[in-house]
Amino acid sequence: VSFAVAPGTTTAIIGSTGSGKSTLISLLPRLYDATSGEVLVDGVPVTDLARAELTEAVALVPQKPYLFSGTVRENMQFGAPDASDERIWAALETAQAADFVRARTTGKGEAAASGLDSRLSQGGTDVSGGQRQRLSIARALVAEPRILVFDDSFSALDVTTDARLRAALDRAAAGVTRIVVAQRVATITDADQIIVLDEGRVVGRGTHAELLADNQTYREIVDSQLTAEDVA
Ligand SMILES: Nc1ncnc2c1ncn2[C@@H]1O[C@H](COP(=O)(O)OP(=O)(O)OP(=O)(O)O)[C@@H](O)[C@H]1O
Ligand SMILES: [Mg+2]
Repeated sequence: VSFAVAPGTTTAIIGSTGSGKSTLISLLPRLYDATSGEVLVDGVPVTDLARAELTEAVALVPQKPYLFSGTVRENMQFGAPDASDERIWAALETAQAADFVRARTTGKGEAAASGLDSRLSQGGTDVSGGQRQRLSIARALVAEPRILVFDDSFSALDVTTDARLRAALDRAAAGVTRIVVAQRVATITDADQIIVLDEGRVVGRGTHAELLADNQTYREIVDSQLTAEDVA
């Protein structure tokens, strides 16, 4: 596997289940280290960066979002302990999560709390899968990294919310480098480059149009998802 990502661009990673998408992006925030070869950020091997430098540079939204028992605010401040409510609300707006957070109330009587003060249960079992994904995206945005990595973060969202969230991201995180693992081709057709993975190897690289024209694996993925009209 070898590829470069230019600053401020969007790189999509697509491939069948088990092809190595999550493993690949895990190398960036060092959830794993490469057993051979290297991963560089701004020319520096990630293994040479201090933990704090790496956290500042990269925020990853994991495939299985992790929320802990605490308030929405505490969950949002995970990567940026001093983030203001204003910054948190802006991130929630971008992540299409502001409306349901605003409407949330937990506890009764004295313990009643709403909005950012409302409480989330361990693992976020009291919110839907799509809400959990959006909170997890908002948390990554609050950290204001230079590189945002999304591992299949849009699959639990309906098509309209997915599109709205990506448009909001274009505005709020313009200039931020994005790496997006996606199942849905429609989510990534406008990416600057698409990397096609198969059994842990890169089998294709290019734009949607380029891959459509000459990549068998990509075509098969597209054919399984889009109607002829969508492709056109
Ligand atoms: N902790 C682990 N220990 C051993 N093998 C693993 C581990 N995690 C993943 N694998 C294996 O590595 C390969 C790649 O897995 P990975 O999770 O990166 O795939 P993926 O492309 O993200 O799949 P999906 O689309 O289902 O999320 C698979 O064969 C998987 O079984
Ligand atoms: Mg995965």
